Amino acid sequence: MPYFQTTDFTLYQGDCLEVLKNLPENSVDMIFADPPYHLSNGGFTCHAGQVVSVNKGKWDESKGIEADFAFHLAWITACKRVLKPAGTLWISGTYHSAFACGFALQKAEYKILNDIIWFKPNASPNLSCRYFTASHETLIWALNEPTAKHTFNYENMKNGDWEDDFLKKPEKQMRSVWAIGALKSYEKKFGKHPTQKPLELLKRIILASSNKGDLILDPFTGSSTTGIMAKKLGRRFIGIDIEANYLELSQKRYEDLPLIV
Ligand SMILES: C[S@@+](CC[C@H](N)C(=O)[O-])C[C@H]1O[C@@H](n2cnc3c(N)ncnc32)[C@H](O)[C@@H]1O
Repeated sequence: MPYFQTTDFTLYQGDCLEVLKNLPENSVDMIFADPPYHLSNGGFTCHAGQVVSVNKGKWDESKGIEADFAFHLAWITACKRVLKPAGTLWISGTYHSAFACGFALQKAEYKILNDIIWFKPNASPNLSCRYFTASHETLIWALNEPTAKHTFNYENMKNGDWEDDFLKKPEKQMRSVWAIGALKSYEKKFGKHPTQKPLELLKRIILASSNKGDLILDPFTGSSTTGIMAKKLGRRFIGIDIEANYLELSQKRYEDLPLIV
């Protein structure tokens, strides 16, 4: 039973491994996944000039490298079944999760198409001054069946409106380093998910690798940034999250959508 459903936007509450089992195979055109980073280990960081805990929630705790890898392999394999052969899977992460996800993609026999550096121009400083300041996330883009022909909207990327990205030069090919800033205030209107992604990031991903009417899935939907942008761009959406409070936030964002488009 969905938690919330309209003609083009469905939310399920539960463990994505269980929910994915019940979705039809070969039915999804594109997946964006922002899985747990497994970095909630009691450390501290700096946010808006304040010292704050890095802990995102119970869902983000590491169970050790073997168990964390087994989890990534399991959900990546479950996604392979529901994706169409030419469907693509995007995964976002930091070094805590990105390498494990990359290896799991290879084990599950996807074809890695690109890795993108999402550069965050306004990243928080490093408190210890013993490391470089973390100012990017990695996005891996992979194709389900290596011989299938995936969607890549080249012209959209080359000639679209990317004026907020100072790295993108007009009429030049879109490169694999994207500068995208923090959440805008209207994106936090109903509160904020602890790892909420900017709408601008999902706009680029969805425009690059899907077409109007396509079905997009997010197995770790959180506040459903993917779904909000999918709806805005005329795609259909399925989101899954284990926590009801994030689905409540997703529903509020969806119902508010006509006001922000
Ligand atoms: C990194 S956050 C995603 C944030 C989202 N991209 C956004 O913009 O709001 C990961 C989400 O996965 C959810 N989650 C963790 N383990 C899960 C599981 N096994 N199945 C489904 N959801 C899970 C968490 O509750 C959390 O909301």
